[in-house]
Formats: sequence, structure tokens, C-alpha cells
Amino acid sequence: MKATAKAHTNIALIKYWGKREESIILPTNNSLSLTLDGFYTTTSVKFNKDFTEDEFFLDGKKVTGVPYDRVSGFLDLIRDLAGKKVYASVESVNEVPTAAGFASSASGFAALAAAGAKAIGLELNDQELSRLTRQGSGSACRSIYGGFAEWRMGFMEDGSDSYAVPVAPVEHWDLRVAAVVLDAKMKKVSSRDGMRRTVESSPFFAGWLDSISVDLREIKSGIEARDFEKVGKIAEANCLKMHATTLGAKPPFTYWIDTTLTVMQRVRELRENGIPAYFTIDAGPNVKVLYLPENEKQIHESLQRIPGVLDVRLSKPGHGISYL
Ligand code: DP6
Repeated sequence: MKATAKAHTNIALIKYWGKREESIILPTNNSLSLTLDGFYTTTSVKFNKDFTEDEFFLDGKKVTGVPYDRVSGFLDLIRDLAGKKVYASVESVNEVPTAAGFASSASGFAALAAAGAKAIGLELNDQELSRLTRQGSGSACRSIYGGFAEWRMGFMEDGSDSYAVPVAPVEHWDLRVAAVVLDAKMKKVSSRDGMRRTVESSPFFAGWLDSISVDLREIKSGIEARDFEKVGKIAEANCLKMHATTLGAKPPFTYWIDTTLTVMQRVRELRENGIPAYFTIDAGPNVKVLYLPENEKQIHESLQRIPGVLDVRLSKPGHGISYL
């Protein structure tokens, strides 16, 4: 009753921002992402009928409190699906340095779902696995697939039609992402809290939702044609629209710090100098820069030189779930 799975994190080009139902994580919009090779989590799950409770180790350290509760709560979903009341020992190793500014929850819950389902004897197809993973962390449901994936929000109340589907495999296009890590000292508003506050109180939220279907249709045609300018422009504008909703919330908030704006400006300058690059930003101050392999050296050097930038981590497109 033991299995080990590896999952990569992903970066959203069309953001998931807003829930219509929090308990089982149902979103208010479709989203689209690229899975990244550089950042991943490997998780082993062992079920044993002699265990009297779950235990969770992250990078060798025993975890308690809220992160433990989230993992144990997620294992309940797996137990319910399998109809087995048996506890587990979970060991996760994160290759998503917190410093890289990626939420490790995407790769973390995707690896946990895959290893947990396999260990308890569930035979799930990708769609079923994505639907299960979604209930741990929304963005994680896209990490089941390599390359580009779309999370279809669905309309059913029970969430049965809310899962991710593949859009283009990892070999389709070698689009690169630089994760620009900033020196930030601020109190973080989690994506969960930020989304909730925005949905409940931002008058800009309706405008955000209105813009999704065109963005999604256009970016998919851009991905199919490997049209970097088209994909970059849409991803950058979509990220700005998402962040604009937070300024209208009550109370207002932003994930950006001064260096976030400096990096955004540097990306615009790179473009003015003929080097194609576009930015996107998640629920934090760090910036992810989209670029093509032939411009890697210039992009890397230019971003590293910005004062307040701690690190620049480069990544290629990554694969979906694998079992070890
Ligand atoms: C801004 O997936 O972390 O990164 O479903 O509450 O766990 P929960 O939220 P999470 O939110 C990610 C938000 C985002 C955009 C995205 O990845 O699509």
C-alpha cells in the first residue's frame, strides 16, 4: 500500500482568480497554465491499517498545524473515494525553493493526490485525478499534465465537471520562464484570502470575469501557432487585470512591491530593445518572465542586474505526473 509520485509546479498564463464554492474548490473562471520543469515535489504515501493517525513529513521534518490538517483532510477525500478507513504516512520532498516564489501547493497536492490514490488502490484516469487534486488546491489540478493545460471551471454543483484537460504537450513549444525572486519583507495575503476578499467586495471582479473567454480563446490560438508575441501579450494583460481586481477590494490590497514594478519596467525596456519578453505575476511580489530560448542569456543577465533581485531561476516546460 505504498506509492511515490512526482509532480511539477505550473505557471498560469490565464489566471484562476475567484471561487464560486470554497469547500470543494470550484472556480469562477477557466484558467490556463504551463507546467514547469525546474520546480517539483516528490511524495511517497504509505497506508497501513496499524496506523492510528496520519503523519506528514516535509523535507524530512514532521509537520503539524494547518499544513498537516490540509494534508490529512485531503487524505480523507482519498479514503472516502476508496471506501477504506486507513491512515497514512506521507513523505514529501520539495524542489520548489520557497525562495523561487512559486506556491509549492500546486506540485505538492498533485504529487500527494497521485501517490495517495495509487497507494490506496484507486485506478483513476487523468480527468479523475485532476478532479481529486483540485480539492486540495485549485491550481494543482493543472499540474497533472505536462506542457499547456486548461482547467475548465464546470457548472455542476458537485464539481464533477471541474477539472483540467491537456492543451498542448511538453514537446509542442520550448517556451521558457524566468522566476525573478525579490527581496520582500511584507505580510502575505494568501491566494485563498485574496481571492475571497476580491470576489466579495471588488467592483472590478465582474470586469475580470467578462474578459476571460476572449483571453482564453486567443491565447489557445497563439499557443497552437507558437506565436510568442500573441501569447505573451495576452498573458501579461491577463495578469494585470487579475491584479487590478485587488485594488478595488475592501480593504484594498496589492501583491506588488516597488521592485515588482521595476522588473515589469525592465521587461518593457527589453521589448523596446528588440528582445521579446513578457511578465506574469501570481499572488505574491515575485515576477515570472516569459521568453524564448535564443534570448536566454540576455534576459538572465538583464534581470539579475536589477537591484533588489535576489535570484533568477530559469525553467523549461515540464512533464505531467510520473510514478517512481
Ligand atoms: C494567483 O491554487 O493557490 O496563482 O485553490 O485556494 O489553493 P487555492 O488557491 P491556489 O491559487 C492560485 C492563484 C494564482 C493563479 C493561478 O495559479 O491560476
